[in-house]
Amino acid sequence: MHGRTHEPQILADPAAAQSAIQWRTRDLGVLWHPCTQMREHPDVLPLVPIERGDGAWLLGYDGRRYLDGVSSWWTNLHGHAEPRIAEAIARQARTLEQVILAGFSHAPAVELAERLLAPAPRQPGRAPFTKVFYADNGSAGVEVALKMAFHWFRNRGEPGRTKFVALENGYHGETLGALAVGDIPLYRRIYAPLLAEALFAPSPDAYQAAPGKPPRNAPRAPPTPLPTCSTAIRARSAR
Ligand SMILES: Cc1ncc(COP(=O)(O)O)c(C=O)c1O
Repeated sequence: MHGRTHEPQILADPAAAQSAIQWRTRDLGVLWHPCTQMREHPDVLPLVPIERGDGAWLLGYDGRRYLDGVSSWWTNLHGHAEPRIAEAIARQARTLEQVILAGFSHAPAVELAERLLAPAPRQPGRAPFTKVFYADNGSAGVEVALKMAFHWFRNRGEPGRTKFVALENGYHGETLGALAVGDIPLYRRIYAPLLAEALFAPSPDAYQAAPGKPPRNAPRAPPTPLPTCSTAIRARSAR
C-alpha cells in the first residue's frame, strides 16, 4: 500500500468488512468511475460499496451508515427507497415502461408536461412557455437547449449564429456541448480541442454586493475555488 489512506482501521463486523472489500475489488476490476482519478483507488480514496439506501442514509456493505449529504449527486432530494416513489415507478413499469416519443404518445408524458407548464413564468410582452421537450439528464438538457437555440435562429434564416455566450465560472455538465459553455478548467482542459467556441461573460455580482465584490456580509477572504469532485470526496473520507 502506498500514499495516504483513510481506510477505517477497525470495523465492527469482520464478515461485513470482507464483503465490502470483495465488492470494492470486483468494482475496480470492471468499472471506471466518473469525475475520478482512478489511480486514487483503492489506496488513497477507498470506494464505499453501498448495499441499500434508506431516506437520507446509505447503508454500506461494511455495516456502516453514511449520511448522504449530497443527495447522491443532487438527484435524490426525496430520500433513498422512498416508498411512494418506489411504488409509482413499479406501477408505471408494470403498465408501460417506455415507448419512443417520436411518433407515439402516452398519458404520463402529457400530464407531466401540463403540470410543468402550469407554473411556468409568464411575462408581459413575451410569449408564454407552451411546450416541453424532455431530456433524461442535466447534460442532455443543456445539449438540447444549445441545439434548440441554434435551430431557432436557423429557422429565422440566420444559420450563421454558431457561438454561445456563457457565464464565467459556470458548470453545465460533462457532455461536449455542456463542457463548451462551462468554465471549470479541470473539466474542460483536456477536451478543449473538441469544444465549440463560447464567449465568456462575467458572472453576475452576488446579491447586494458592490460590483466585483463578494456578498455584503461575506468575509473578505478571496473566493475559494470550487473543489473538484475528488477533493470533495477526499474531505468526506477524511472525516
Ligand atoms: C447547473 C448544472 N447544469 C447541468 C448539470 C449536469 O447534469 P447531469 O449531471 O445530470 O448531466 C449540472 C450537474 O451538476 C448542473 O449543476
